[in-house]
Amino acid sequence: MAKLVINREAVGAEIQPEIYGHFSEHLGRGIYEGIYVGEDSDIPNVNGMRTDVVEALKKIHVPVLRWPGGCFADEYHWKDGIGDKAKRKKIVNTHWGGVVEDNSFGTHEFFELCRQLGCKTYINGNVGSGTVQEMSEWVEYMTFEGVSPMAELRAKNGHKEPWKVDYFGVGNENWGCGGNMRPSYYGDLYRRYQTYVRNYDPKNPIKKICGGANVDDYHWTKTVLETTHDHTPEQFHGFMDGLSLHYYVHPEGWDIKGSATDFDEEVWYKTLSKALYMQTLVERHGMIMDTYDPEKKIGMIVDEWGGWYTAEPGTNPGFLYQQNTIRDALIAGITLNIFNKHCDRVKMANIAQMVNVLQAVILTEGEKMILTPTYHVFHMYRHHQGATLLDTKLTGVSEIGPEEWSVPAITESTSIDSEGVITVTLNNLSTTQKENVDVELVDGDISVVEARIVSGDIHDYNSFEQPEQVVEKEYTDYKVDAEGLHVILPPASVVEIRLK
Ligand code: AHR
Repeated sequence: MAKLVINREAVGAEIQPEIYGHFSEHLGRGIYEGIYVGEDSDIPNVNGMRTDVVEALKKIHVPVLRWPGGCFADEYHWKDGIGDKAKRKKIVNTHWGGVVEDNSFGTHEFFELCRQLGCKTYINGNVGSGTVQEMSEWVEYMTFEGVSPMAELRAKNGHKEPWKVDYFGVGNENWGCGGNMRPSYYGDLYRRYQTYVRNYDPKNPIKKICGGANVDDYHWTKTVLETTHDHTPEQFHGFMDGLSLHYYVHPEGWDIKGSATDFDEEVWYKTLSKALYMQTLVERHGMIMDTYDPEKKIGMIVDEWGGWYTAEPGTNPGFLYQQNTIRDALIAGITLNIFNKHCDRVKMANIAQMVNVLQAVILTEGEKMILTPTYHVFHMYRHHQGATLLDTKLTGVSEIGPEEWSVPAITESTSIDSEGVITVTLNNLSTTQKENVDVELVDGDISVVEARIVSGDIHDYNSFEQPEQVVEKEYTDYKVDAEGLHVILPPASVVEIRLK
């Protein structure tokens, strides 16, 4: 029997809300159709942004949005996406399906979307095919308040006031689609490009994100930090605020990937075992970061993560459109628990991608919209945002699944908010077994404030025909007595319990 002991005094770091961040690229129907339909669309919208999608996203408290890529970022020339829409350049989206990109969603539209969502902004700049001048002028265009050519251009395009750029990524995957660079070369370019990401508003400095490793490329992490590290810890502040990491779960490997909906039990465990690998990555890259930045001033920014499967049959393979099952709910639950537990280092994470692409929280078809199992997990886990991690003890957890892909039956993370409410999120990874967990508070009695659950058959998903096959429900399979809280987690479930 598993036992979870919680001590409300054993506080760790703050779970930065940005850990629950999102990513949206100019890719397939992620932005166009999925979010932006244009002012003249029959689909209800505000300034071109779908009202249904924005309202749903507000409910999961999207803290930050990364844009415009991804691989697209290192081919994006921001001036193509400003000014009169009728005159904007039409370009080919070489990475994603070779389709026409009409640039109708550009800088102004991105900030309008973030305004409607009430979220922070994370712009990813172009190092691979862009110049330093281009990057520097983009920052000037977005953030400079005084008299300058770019501030004037922004005003001419209808926005006199500058916007706030919270995070700026200096390139994306520069080891691959962002220029196929070697780490020391990129490290030097990072030094150079970031110099011109000026802080025009010193009271609101832009946090600069250095392009980090792919999966377990520890050599990249080490060499980039080595190349950029003749700076003292103090100087790091404002020079590099974050280092990114990308990791996707491909059940059958990068080449084959595997179906989003058609998988057997072995593949279920293989997938979840690969999701759990995030912990190893965070810890090992974190150890390298510790040698250069022992005070943990540089955040680990996992700005692309999630399940990546073979695109749905009949859809453009370059659009990366995939369904989302209970298995994805578990990937999300497991991964977010890992990030919470490492929130002293992980300062932001951005699920790939917000709408209609990869492990999306929302899928759309014409005017229809559905919420995926992953959406419901983000909704339950929102209570961790801004809360303080609690250092818990979880014991007695059995290992389950086939030997090669065995996983712990349960994962957990726990936080306490400013009102003293404790949020525990638990995952049962088993396809068939219920799991019992006894929860004990070391310093007092437990009363349950709220309990919610997402669970189902491992293959369950929401479709446009059956949009509510998987929903978040009230969870009642627990009891409280003098010894504490006794929880029975159904198989394949993600549970949130809020306690006092
Ligand atoms: O999210 C899809 C792609 O995956 C991104 O464009 C790229 O950064 C990564 O390889």
